[in-house]
Amino acid sequence: THLEPPFIISLRGSSCSSISYHHNMSSLTNPNVLVTGGAGYIGSHTVLKLLENGYDVTIIDNLCNSSETSMERVLKLAGLPSDSSRLTFHNVDICDRNGMEEVFKAATAPFKACIHFAGLKAVGESVKLPLKYYHNNLTGTFFLVELMQQYGCKKIVFSSSATVYGTAASPLTESSQVGVGVTNPYGRTKYFLEEILRDTTASDPDFGVILLRYFNPVGAHESGTIGEDPQGIPNNLMPYVQQVAVGRRDKLTVHGDDYDTPDGTGVRDYIHVVDLAAGHLAALRKLDIVSTGCNVYNLGTGNGYSVLDMVKAMRTASGSEIPYVVGPRREGDLGSCYANPKKAREELGWEAELGIERMCADAWRWQSNNPTGYKTE
Ligand code: NAD
Ligand code: UFG
Repeated sequence: THLEPPFIISLRGSSCSSISYHHNMSSLTNPNVLVTGGAGYIGSHTVLKLLENGYDVTIIDNLCNSSETSMERVLKLAGLPSDSSRLTFHNVDICDRNGMEEVFKAATAPFKACIHFAGLKAVGESVKLPLKYYHNNLTGTFFLVELMQQYGCKKIVFSSSATVYGTAASPLTESSQVGVGVTNPYGRTKYFLEEILRDTTASDPDFGVILLRYFNPVGAHESGTIGEDPQGIPNNLMPYVQQVAVGRRDKLTVHGDDYDTPDGTGVRDYIHVVDLAAGHLAALRKLDIVSTGCNVYNLGTGNGYSVLDMVKAMRTASGSEIPYVVGPRREGDLGSCYANPKKAREELGWEAELGIERMCADAWRWQSNNPTGYKTE
């Protein structure tokens, strides 16, 4: 591995592995941000942006849905050596309180803030294994927030989801109704955690929270070296479409074409993951200025595209046919879901810049250069 440690410490109790390694020297001047889930899809793109913008990063990830390779590639993209002291990785489960505490103790300076991505996110699996989802996403966050309070790190950016809006009508604003019509345990973990973090800020005047409600993250870094690497059969539209384009799957099933949308297929607000990553930096800057209370922002483009729009855009980007059949609606799906992104523009000074052509071109570069993701087959 390129993240070879200068020394190894062992942390017990991680569900995926009990070994953690890290570099013990971090730069004296850069603020250090704790990033849970930093090896994952959105996390890796955000860590790259943090490194490029002068933050040092400490990642906690148990690699249950990701790979160390993403971090090696992030370092390369940031122009840093594989043993750079600016990135520290701990292979720790957020539900392992002792392991987590070791990370806080090992930090050379208190973390300036935490960006909390770690969590399980497969909607279908959450219906079958609700307790696994509640335990992982809730218990892990309880430990994280307790330790943050104990060790004086009082700013957190949390990965929430448009799913908290349930059946509220689009375009969704941050004051649209939440929590009604959320159809699965995964979505409820996001809704519950939003409420829990809000209660925490109310109880601790020094605690600042930004809840980011992501719409549909897609695409990849333009280098084509980091991207989304779903395990097994992808649940989400774009990873599935990409695998059809690259020849790993025969055809897409379109889940319903009888919605009240222009072509009858589901409409979503797809957002380039690089734009999404930039939204996290904007949130950190905001927390520097308004460091207390709980603020919530939609991270979307405000534009809705249908399943067939996305199939067409990927066909153009890849030059491959994307065969599809129309099947029945998928349980729990909405016809349309898209953001009103005004609040993030006005208060974070952030807005999405990249359109679906770039999302598909960059996704295709990643997929065609890495047909089996980070694994080599
Ligand atoms: P991802 O699975 O690629 O990243 C999550 C990371 O968290 C993975 O690296 C995984 O190994 C790690 N992780 C999970 N449980 C852990 C645990 N107990 N301890 C330590 N690490 C753990 O997913 P992503 O798409 O990058 O999503 C990041 C966050 O954004 C998640 O919280 C997700 O729910 C949320 N979100 C994602 C989407 C989306 O469509 N991708 C939409 C809305 C919200
Ligand atoms: N779709 C298909 N065929 C597929 C997969 C998806 O037609 O094989 C359709 C869906 O019916 C929907 C659209 O493509 O109309 C997008 O579906 P995704 O599964 O990609 O995304 P969702 O909007 O359903 O869900 C996503 C995340 C959830 C999150 C939710 C709201 O996967 O985690 O956005 O933020 F909760």
